[in-house]
Parts: sequence; C-alpha cells; structure tokens
Amino acid sequence: MKSFLQEVSIGLSKKNKELSSKWFYDFRGSKLFEKITKLKTYYPTRTERKILKDNKIEIAYKIGRKAVIIEPGAGDFKKVAIFLDSLDKPKKYIPLDISEDYINKISQSFKKKFPKIAITPKGYDFSRNNKLPFKINSSENIIIFFPGSTIGNFEEKDAVKFLKMLKSKFKAKKIIIGADLVKDIPTLITAYDDKKGVTAKFNKNILRRINTELGADINLNSYKHLAIYNKQKKRIEMRLKSKKINNIRINGSNYLIKKNEEIHTENSHKYTIKSFKNLVNKAGWKISKTWLDDNKLFSVHCLSLI
Ligand SMILES: C[S@@+](CC[C@H](N)C(=O)[O-])C[C@H]1O[C@@H](n2cnc3c(N)ncnc32)[C@H](O)[C@@H]1O
Repeated sequence: MKSFLQEVSIGLSKKNKELSSKWFYDFRGSKLFEKITKLKTYYPTRTERKILKDNKIEIAYKIGRKAVIIEPGAGDFKKVAIFLDSLDKPKKYIPLDISEDYINKISQSFKKKFPKIAITPKGYDFSRNNKLPFKINSSENIIIFFPGSTIGNFEEKDAVKFLKMLKSKFKAKKIIIGADLVKDIPTLITAYDDKKGVTAKFNKNILRRINTELGADINLNSYKHLAIYNKQKKRIEMRLKSKKINNIRINGSNYLIKKNEEIHTENSHKYTIKSFKNLVNKAGWKISKTWLDDNKLFSVHCLSLI
C-alpha cells in the first residue's frame, strides 16, 4: 500500500507531474472545501442540495425500507441530512472519508441531530482496493450515496472500476449518485477559480501538506492556481503552475520543477445524461431515475443493477 510520501514521489517524478486530488483533504482541506461550497460561483453544491430537497420523497421511496446508507467521501454529511428524516426506518448511516478527523468531528453534531439512526464514521481511502473497515451483511438493503460529482474526479476506467466495486465489495443494491453536467465554459471556470482565492488555497493545500507532513520547504506563493476546461475530455483540470524554477526537496530526494511547468492536481469530469448512462452501463448499473434542476446544471440519479 502506497503512502503519501510514495505517491508524491511517484507523481513528481513523472514527465507530466501529477498529484491525486484526494491529498487536498486533511482537516484543513475539508474546511476549505466547505468554504468553497458556500461561494456564489460554486453552483454544484447549492444545485444538488435543491434537487435532493425537491425530490426527497421520491428518493426515499427509491431507497426503500431499513436502508444501510454508505457514503464514500461523505464530507460534511449535509446532503444525506436532507432526506434522512424521510426514509422508512433507516438502519445505519456509514460515512467514509479519507479526511478521518474531519468526519469524526462532523459526526458529533450529526449524532445529536439524528439520535435514532446508528452512525459509524470510518476513515477509508476508496481509491485503493483496501479491506472495508466494517462488516457487510449482503442481505441488508445496502444503498450507496455518492453525491458531489465525486465520480467526476475519476478517469473513465477508474470510475467504471469504482462503480463495479460498489457492487462486488460493498454489495450495494442501489446507488444515489450526483453527476455534474456539461455547460457553458465561463460558468465552469468561475466555479473552480473564484475571485476570493478560496479554491486556490484549497489547491495549494496539497503543497502545504507536503511541507508539514513530508518536511519540504515549498514557497506556496511561487505557484499559481489554474482551472482549465479541457474541451476534448469534457473536464475541468486544476493545476499548479510554477512561477519560477523550484526545487522540491523531500526525504533526501530532489524534484526539479521548471519555470511554467504545471502539476496536475484534479480532474472534474462533466457529463451529459447520455455519457453518464454509458459510463454506468459499462459497470453493470442502469439508471432507474434521473432528477434535474430547472437549469439543467446538475443531475442526481438512482442506479440499480442491470
Ligand atoms: C467533492 S467532495 C464531496 C463531499 C460531499 N460528499 C458532498 O457531496 O458535499 C469529495 C469528498 O471525498 C473525499 N475523498 C476524496 N478522495 C477520497 C478517497 N480516495 N477516499 C475517501 N474519501 C475521499 C474528500 O475528503 C471529500 O470529503
């Protein structure tokens, strides 16, 4: 199993340098993401929450009785809170996240708000094929809740692998999943490059973690936050562009970053209903229902097994 140090050294040794977006999220990174979700220009959270709220009765009906809700990458649990009260005798809520301290903190207030449901937060990295940190009982009504268009952070082949894993390993019966939609480029760019610089701070949190956790001495001001729309791949790419020659020294190794060289830190794929359908079909799922907002900015789907 690769550690933060191993993954960073592999990513910075590549010709096209890259670091996984999962490393944005320590406690501070999760707080920064929370701040992003409150920005006017960041339409995905606001829009998806409205879709969930407007359709919570139908969503609860799709989820069914005695559900065990598992949310990989649960973040602040605010979206599940929208429909939890509408469910018929929910059994358990299991939030999973790489940002373990953060979800442990969030679950304290959540437990007070929903005292009737068992909540068991667990630190878990879903990008690795690790053993699950809890027991699965395949006879239960296991529902995966995967909002936030986190699916869009995967390259297509990894998204298919992940969706297959939800079936084979998590024994999911259904998935309620959010997927961001293709739209005009300025709306997309401003969502990922806000004027207040919150997203820039979030992007640079990866460098800050390399400093604090791996002992490097990176000057965060010598990198510029970039959000670019890749038309061909229909995705926003976040990158960190080096303003000068930078030498990153980690654990006795040097990684030379040339002036204007970019470190690719995140992909956020955008879908059409058709392209999303094709994606989930490849993984053995079918769309049984789609909910949209009036402006067709975002989509939420219920997936069932083919
Ligand atoms: C885009 S945010 C979505 C948060 C929340 N589900 C929502 O919809 O508002 C992605 C979440 O996934 C978590 N995450 C990212 N990569 C992960 C990984 N490999 N394993 C587990 N959690 C991960 C992050 O910590 C973060 O909470």
